[in-house]
Amino acid sequence: MVRPPVVDVFVTPADREAAMREDVRRGLTARSKSLPPVWFYDERGSLLFDEITRLPEYYLTRSERAILGRHSEDIAAASSADGLVELGSGTSEKTRLLLDTMAARGDLRRIVLLDISEEVLAEAASRLSTDYGVEVRAVVGDFRTDLPKISGGGRQLWAFLGSTVGNFPPTERRRLFSEFRASMGPEDHLLLGTDLVKDPDRLVAAYDDSAGVTAAFNRNVLVVLNRELGADFDPDGFEHRAVWNAEHRWIEMRLRSLSAHTVHIAELELDVAFRDGEEILTEISAKFEPEGLRHELESVGLASAVTWKDPAGDFMLTLARAAA
Ligand code: SAH
Ligand code: TRP
Repeated sequence: MVRPPVVDVFVTPADREAAMREDVRRGLTARSKSLPPVWFYDERGSLLFDEITRLPEYYLTRSERAILGRHSEDIAAASSADGLVELGSGTSEKTRLLLDTMAARGDLRRIVLLDISEEVLAEAASRLSTDYGVEVRAVVGDFRTDLPKISGGGRQLWAFLGSTVGNFPPTERRRLFSEFRASMGPEDHLLLGTDLVKDPDRLVAAYDDSAGVTAAFNRNVLVVLNRELGADFDPDGFEHRAVWNAEHRWIEMRLRSLSAHTVHIAELELDVAFRDGEEILTEISAKFEPEGLRHELESVGLASAVTWKDPAGDFMLTLARAAA
C-alpha cells in the first residue's frame, strides 16, 4: 500500500516574503550589492537548475552521480542507516541510487525531504512515496534554521548533495555544519557532496555555459523580485558573469548592470541606483580541498569517516559522523 507523503510547512509564503524583503533590502542597500542564493529557486528557477544539471559544461551532477553509482553500497553499509534525510533535495534524482541500495538491503524505513521550493519538493516526495512504498515526509523549510524540527529516531543518513554547501561563505558554512552536528543523533551520518578545486577554465565554463542556461538562471532572481516584491528590474539590462576568485577559491556569479539606471522596488518603497557596469553578487560556489574540508568538519565535531572521488577526481563525497 502506498501512503501519500506527509507535508510539513515550516516556511509559509508569508515567512518567505518577510525573509525575502529583509534579505533584499540589506543586500541591495549595501555598498557592495549582493543577493542571497536561496531566492533563485522559484518554480522556474528549479526547472532551470534541473536543466543546468544536464549541461555538457556542468560536470558536477554527473560526477556526483558516478560516485553514488559506484559507492552507494559502501555508504549504506558504513552508515547502516534505516532512514534518509535529504537537505535541499530538489528533484532527489541522484538520491535514488542510495535509496535503491538501502531498499535492496532491507534497511529503508523512512525518507525525509527538505527544500525551500515547495513545487519540486511535493513532486519528488510523491514519486518517492510511490516508488519505495515507505513513509515519506516532505518538509517545506530552510535548512539553515529548521533542522531541529525534523530530527527523529532510527539511524539517519543526512544527505547534503550537489555542492550546495559551497554556496555559503565560510562563516555561514561553519554555522551550517554545527547545526547539522547538533541535530544528528549519535548513530547518524552526514553524506556531503563537494566540488573540488580544479582548472579555473573548466570551473568558469560550468557556471557560464554556451547555451546560456546559467545566465537565464542567474537573471531569474530578478524576475522573482519583480513578481514577489513589485520590483521593476529589466532582466535583459543585466549581463551574467562567472568569475573565479583564486584567493577564496570560489566562483562568483554576478549580474552586471549594462547602464546607469534606477530600479524601484514597490513593496520595499525603495529606489536602488545602479552605475553603468555595477555588479550584484548573486552566488558563490566554493571549491574544496579534501584536507581543508576534513579540518572544517572536525572543528565542529564531525569526524570524516570515509571519502570517495569520481574517477576524474573532480568531485568528492564525504561520509562523516558525530565525533565521540
Ligand atoms: N540536491 C539537488 C539540488 C541542488 S540545488 C542536487 O544535488 O541536484 C539546491 C537546492 O537547495 C534547491 O532545490 C533549492 O530549492 C534548495 N535550497 C536552497 N537554499 C535552501 C535553504 N536555505 N533551505 C532549504 N532548501 C534550500
Ligand atoms: N550548488 C550548485 C553549485 O554551486 C548551485 C548552482 C549551480 C548554481 N549552477 C549555478 C547557483 C548557477 C547559481 C548559479 O554548483
